[in-house]
Amino acid sequence: MNGYRFCSRKGTGVQKPAYNPASAVILRVVERINIVGAGIIGLGCAWRLAQRGVNVLAIDARDAGREASWAAAGMLAPGGEFFGPSALATLALRSLDMYGGFIRELEEESGVTIDFRRSGAIEVAYSEEEACALEVRTAAQATCGIPSEACIHEGRPARFFPDDAMVDPRDLTRALRRACQRRGVSLLEDEQVTKISADGRVWTAGGVHDGSLTLVTAGAWSSQLLAGLPGNFPPVVPVRGHLVAWHLRPGLIEPILRHRSTYLLQRRSGVLLAGATKEHVGFDRTLDEAAVASLQACAGELLPTLAGQVPTERWNGFRPWVEGEMPFVGQLGESSVWAAYGHYRNGILLAPETISRVAAQICA
Ligand code: GLY
Repeated sequence: MNGYRFCSRKGTGVQKPAYNPASAVILRVVERINIVGAGIIGLGCAWRLAQRGVNVLAIDARDAGREASWAAAGMLAPGGEFFGPSALATLALRSLDMYGGFIRELEEESGVTIDFRRSGAIEVAYSEEEACALEVRTAAQATCGIPSEACIHEGRPARFFPDDAMVDPRDLTRALRRACQRRGVSLLEDEQVTKISADGRVWTAGGVHDGSLTLVTAGAWSSQLLAGLPGNFPPVVPVRGHLVAWHLRPGLIEPILRHRSTYLLQRRSGVLLAGATKEHVGFDRTLDEAAVASLQACAGELLPTLAGQVPTERWNGFRPWVEGEMPFVGQLGESSVWAAYGHYRNGILLAPETISRVAAQICA
């Protein structure tokens, strides 16, 4: 098959998937899986399934991990995302618990170091009214396992969320790519999928890819790829987010800093990010100067050292939103097609939980 970036079974020095007697039954049923969408969730599923002895082909319309996984800041921060008990908050907290082990195993298998930190987060109130609302919210959060404590930040009332964390999603993509390669996953990039059939076959410009099963993990593009297939799956809507970044001296901020919809976090490298807007503009990739300017202004108010500093990077990406904000993870009717998408603002946070659920369901 032309166009494979790596087709590691043919390569040198690349491990074949280890034979695992426990997976022998699985191999008879799921011999080969096509994964459409090679972001963090798609690559993560590819890695886990390959660990279980499944032959995996991952396909992406661009470079692997170049859409939402590349655009995301990588906040693992239920404290800023879930304002009380819900089924999604439960999944998010479970996934956060899984993160340390997930990162350790991935670093070990890939040999790639991942910038992952249990940094905590500080959320600041700018007024008495905001401080009261934050108190009420954090009381509800405490009932679902999101602890926080009152503090003062730069003279302002604030709450510290000790469990919030951060990861560099681009490190995560690099590591997953390498781990997939080592496990013999084939990766086909810059290849548009034109059709998926209910029996698990996938069509691209390069030909038809047989599979006993196809898994769609294509974020905001998922439901359009699934159109015409059986089963009740939710339509997904892209919600654009702009982010900006500055290259600064490392160690300027340790915890995530938040005020309302603005958040700041700093990587170990010193790169400091500010996010994010929420815009309903379809798949328009145009950089919106007004959105960037407003984000910069909010960032400068939260961390005055940023005021007047020109960002070194500005970008946007598309969050996959579904009605109810509960990601769809499962099989489409009785077909050979599965999907995992709709993670909206928390795809990076929910990745370990989603990946292990998909692998467990498919290889049940
Ligand atoms: N998770 C933060 C965002 O989507 O902006």
